[in-house]
Amino acid sequence: MELEQNLITGVKEIDEQHNELIKRINIITKAGKNGTSADELIPTLFFIRKYVSKHFSDEEQLHISSEYPKAAEHKAMHDSFSKKINVLFDKCNDSGVNLMTILETNKTLYDWLITHILKVDMEFAQYYKNK
Ligand SMILES: [Fe+2]
Ligand SMILES: [Fe+2]
Repeated sequence: MELEQNLITGVKEIDEQHNELIKRINIITKAGKNGTSADELIPTLFFIRKYVSKHFSDEEQLHISSEYPKAAEHKAMHDSFSKKINVLFDKCNDSGVNLMTILETNKTLYDWLITHILKVDMEFAQYYKNK
């Protein structure tokens, strides 16, 4: 598990998926520093796009199955971020994919995810664990 201690929610399936996401995001961040070409990063970028949407829907399933009172609110945040990230990914794709747009997308994703985990996912995890 590469997740830093403060990002661990204590809900195994959520932590495993966060870990996978952060791991892939780190691949892109490191590649930016190594001078890896944009073409080599495309598969990782597209893996992340798919995996984020799987992760959101798995989390939302847990909300529903545990009758989480803030399920709708939490889902609305996922939805609004999904829209934003799709625009960024499309921009990456349309502009022939260059390193700058990939890194920018990656950073936006990373910043949002960390903020979201620390506050919103953590709040759900507390509820879930006390159920
Ligand atoms: Fe999450
Ligand atoms: Fe979430």
